[in-house]
Amino acid sequence: MTRLADYYRDRAAEYDAVYAKPERQDDLARLHGMLRGLVAGQRVLEVAAGTGYWTHTMATSAAAVTATDLVPETLDVARARAYGPAPVTFRTADAFGLDQVPGDFDTAFIGFFWSHVLRADVPRFLAGLHDRLGSGARVIVLDNRYVPGSSTPVSRTTDAGDTYQRRTLNDGRSYEVLKNFPTEDQFTSDVAASAVDPQWTQLPYFWLATCTLR
Ligand SMILES: C[S@@+](CC[C@H](N)C(=O)[O-])C[C@H]1O[C@@H](n2cnc3c(N)ncnc32)[C@H](O)[C@@H]1O
Repeated sequence: MTRLADYYRDRAAEYDAVYAKPERQDDLARLHGMLRGLVAGQRVLEVAAGTGYWTHTMATSAAAVTATDLVPETLDVARARAYGPAPVTFRTADAFGLDQVPGDFDTAFIGFFWSHVLRADVPRFLAGLHDRLGSGARVIVLDNRYVPGSSTPVSRTTDAGDTYQRRTLNDGRSYEVLKNFPTEDQFTSDVAASAVDPQWTQLPYFWLATCTLR
């Protein structure tokens, strides 16, 4: 387990509170609608699915969803939800080891995990997606924008441009967590070698991007 995975294991039971922030509800409603449309009829490989919040949305329109995460405790929460009509399969899997996940997929969905990938590791992450899904597969990425007053402040920025936050769980345990907030230009440049046709939608609190693997 990485320290990031430790943090999400310890946070699993309280994770969904992040989706209750009142100021983000309009954006979230819009994102649910966008995502339903993007995955309609698709066989989706969901990377770092966590507690299944977006899995639930995708299962309403996709052909099938395979929801993966490195942390079994988050998938235990996800398994407790009801899904449908698409079949949903859960697999414990590292986002950097997707070759271990069986199935045929048209689309990868990465919700709120892109921000946890070091910028230097993005090419390796995309190469893994390419190896697993193949050329022409669609990649959908959804993540946070940094919004002062709503986001946890950035506590440290490295020379490579990666940013970290200091996060505290309900019981007081504290963790330093990698959390990057790419701009559209950074995302476009980070995927350029591996993907074509990047499309970026920016909402007040979130961004959603799509691209197609080369
Ligand atoms: C911010 S949460 C996102 C969860 C979910 N996708 C969502 O949007 O609600 C990040 C997730 O990444 C998972 N994770 C951390 N490291 C991972 C890795 N190397 N491979 C796969 N999942 C990982 C954590 O367990 C956690 O569930």
